[in-house]
Amino acid sequence: MTAAPDQKARPFRAIPAAQGGVQGTARGLAGAVRVPGDKSISHRALIFGALAVGETRVTGLLEGEDVLRTAAAMRAMGAEVERLKDGDWRVWGVGVGGLSEPEDVLDMGNAGTGARLVMGLVASHDFTAILTGDASLRRRPMGRVIEPLSRIGARFDGRRGGRLPLAVIGTAHPLPIEYELPVASAQVKSAVLLAGLNAPGITTVIEPEPTRDHTENLLRHFGATVEIEKTKSGGRIVRLTGQPEFRPSSISVPGDPSSAAFPMVAACIVPGSAVTLQNVGLNPLRIGLFDTLQEMGADFTITNRRDEGGEPVADILVRHTPLKGVTVPPERAPSMIDEYPILFAAAACAEGDTVVRGAKELRVKESDRLALMARGLKACGVDLDEFEDGLVIRGKGRPPAGGASISTELDHRIAMSFLVLGMAAQNGIAIDDARVMDTSFPGFIALMQGLGGTLEPVA
Ligand code: S3P
Repeated sequence: MTAAPDQKARPFRAIPAAQGGVQGTARGLAGAVRVPGDKSISHRALIFGALAVGETRVTGLLEGEDVLRTAAAMRAMGAEVERLKDGDWRVWGVGVGGLSEPEDVLDMGNAGTGARLVMGLVASHDFTAILTGDASLRRRPMGRVIEPLSRIGARFDGRRGGRLPLAVIGTAHPLPIEYELPVASAQVKSAVLLAGLNAPGITTVIEPEPTRDHTENLLRHFGATVEIEKTKSGGRIVRLTGQPEFRPSSISVPGDPSSAAFPMVAACIVPGSAVTLQNVGLNPLRIGLFDTLQEMGADFTITNRRDEGGEPVADILVRHTPLKGVTVPPERAPSMIDEYPILFAAAACAEGDTVVRGAKELRVKESDRLALMARGLKACGVDLDEFEDGLVIRGKGRPPAGGASISTELDHRIAMSFLVLGMAAQNGIAIDDARVMDTSFPGFIALMQGLGGTLEPVA
């Protein structure tokens, strides 16, 4: 999120409902809500629509800052991208390989996914694009995509450590490559596949641990040939046949499980709660948090299972119940990578130790999430140890005292995690700036207030 200097930060706090003094407010959270559309699928829907000749319609698109930046980037490279009404968008694409050079710098805001996917796209086009972003994105490592995209033939000129702003000098003669991911990252996998779309022959990505497969699903949806082979060691080999003819399509974006995670944990930790989350995406490669919460003793009832645009979705009723600490298997990390901050909030209320290791990637997200969560939780009175690759949180079986004011460092998930914990913590919790949540969850505060949560601006 790039805030203009004259726009002031919006400090906010959450306090337990009983203290809110709102007449008639039930102590627990209650109601049925729909969370905004899936961020990963929304970025990809716009990108794929931009590569198909003709009209692609997208419904349920997440209209968060991150996705709006991708929409602007696709427009700047020649696609027509139009908002019809809430969540309902139309894209007129230019064909695989048909993007054109943007006239100006592409500002990707806070979005790591948007930046890395666009780098992949540009890599196999015969033009140059310059990408930048906000202070958080400019700190994030891009070497992980620069390395494979250079093998395809693109060149890069950027700041030390491959950081933004950087220029991607695309190649007119992209090579199909075979690439084994050194980190479990759907962003890197997707950047290579997007570059491979405009290369002749077969581009192969080998992932030792499976990561979210929305790119593969949408590639098929638009008519590309993608083969997926499961390896004996639990990984996947993805083979994409380059230069397909994309057919325009319609896409219905399910609710984002990573956003549903916040009201879900709020219902788990605020006594007396019963909250239904409607239309939540349940892609098997995204539901590590749900499994973990169930192991902690969470009370979920899943109904209305169905298929929406090739992705499984359902409604989930979550009732408050005491949680117990668990050890999260490190191999679960890719399926819950964005949910660790809110898991840490749940662990802070659970009885016993929650052990998270093998999650070093959290140090290079929108912020260093291990450091920020450890610091914030300690300030709220939580007993924990921080490791290079995880945290051990020693819960007392009740919410911590809270009372802290948290610096969110442009990280939406840090902001939402502490506001959720603040709804249970005795003295509430404040964050320094509520604007950051607009990147992935516009309307978060109103949604939580609608469920009976007490969230209010700090004067
Ligand atoms: C995403 C992949 C994940 C995730 C991010 C969205 C995607 O990043 O953290 O929020 O849409 O591909 P990595 O693949 O780098 O782990």
